[in-house]
Amino acid sequence: LENAKVLVTGGAGFIGHHLVSELLKYKIKKIYVADDLSTGLKSNLTPFSKDSRLELIEIDISDFNKVENLPAVDYIFNLAALVSVPLSFSESAKNNNINIVGFQNILEYAKRHQAKKIIYASSSAVYGNPTKTPISEDAIIKPTSPYGFSKSINEIYAKTYKEFFDIDSNGFRFFNVYGKGQKSDSPYSGVISIFREKMIQNGEISIFGDGEQTRDFVFIEDLVKILISSIELKNTSEIFNLGTGKSTSINELFNTMASLFNYNKSPSYKEVRSGDIVESVADIQKLKNSFDIKATTNLHEGLKFLKDNL
Ligand code: UD1
Repeated sequence: LENAKVLVTGGAGFIGHHLVSELLKYKIKKIYVADDLSTGLKSNLTPFSKDSRLELIEIDISDFNKVENLPAVDYIFNLAALVSVPLSFSESAKNNNINIVGFQNILEYAKRHQAKKIIYASSSAVYGNPTKTPISEDAIIKPTSPYGFSKSINEIYAKTYKEFFDIDSNGFRFFNVYGKGQKSDSPYSGVISIFREKMIQNGEISIFGDGEQTRDFVFIEDLVKILISSIELKNTSEIFNLGTGKSTSINELFNTMASLFNYNKSPSYKEVRSGDIVESVADIQKLKNSFDIKATTNLHEGLKFLKDNL
């Protein structure tokens, strides 16, 4: 990364700003953040505003004229996306524009500027409801939402650009990412940030379905380190699960958080959310084989960190 120029799309978002923060620890030459600030926040980048290596460019990646004019870089991290499963149903055109057209624009930009590599966010949502857990990368791709579908298209596009134009890439199927700075104020926010906020305010918590659905919760600090270390992999278009390999039900999550946050109310059980996956846990063998860094922060440690760093 020494002297490299990097583009981070979605760099003002939750995952993006943690990545920017980690990247700035390296002797990097320049980091351009491309973000339309629709869900990302300028204030996420305020802590680094004095670092002249960082530059925010306000663009929507689905606009190719703008993407094409972005400065040339060595490495691209594509994190810009509409990330909500429920929103991908109600706003499916937007989902397609940002997640599919936008990503294709970034690939095309990489090709034109001969970028060395694209590292992009895919999602465990590409699997839909797996027949077998833990889910390994070679499991069948059968998304249950437009969101999952759009991410599976990203993978196909990225592999195609490797095959035809020799653009290196790595796609990471993120499982459920959590950590500091995750928005909690929207119904589409991640479950941990919603529960945390409600518990702090002693508000009412809803669990959709019977709460026995499981997720693999991966801590943001671990995730960004793995993304950065993937720069070392050359001549690749491999796809990796990025999770911990540990499964937690929403009921277990609720109970763990309730005792950490001293929350005494019972949750109310609501109708299952459309497109909701029942069981989700990553097989992390491939990830382990390829990276020295692992997602080792266990959920209790991560949640405790969240509580102590409000
Ligand atoms: C999340 C990500 C998505 C990612 C996917 C990978 C978010 C917002 N979405 O979707 O980008 O690709 O993981 O699998 O992080 N729940 C409740 N009560 C609430 C909120 C949620 O019971 O108040 C339940 C949901 O119904 C779901 C589970 O908690 O079963 C997790 O929900 P959520 O955090 O929104 O994540 P995913 O839908 O798994």
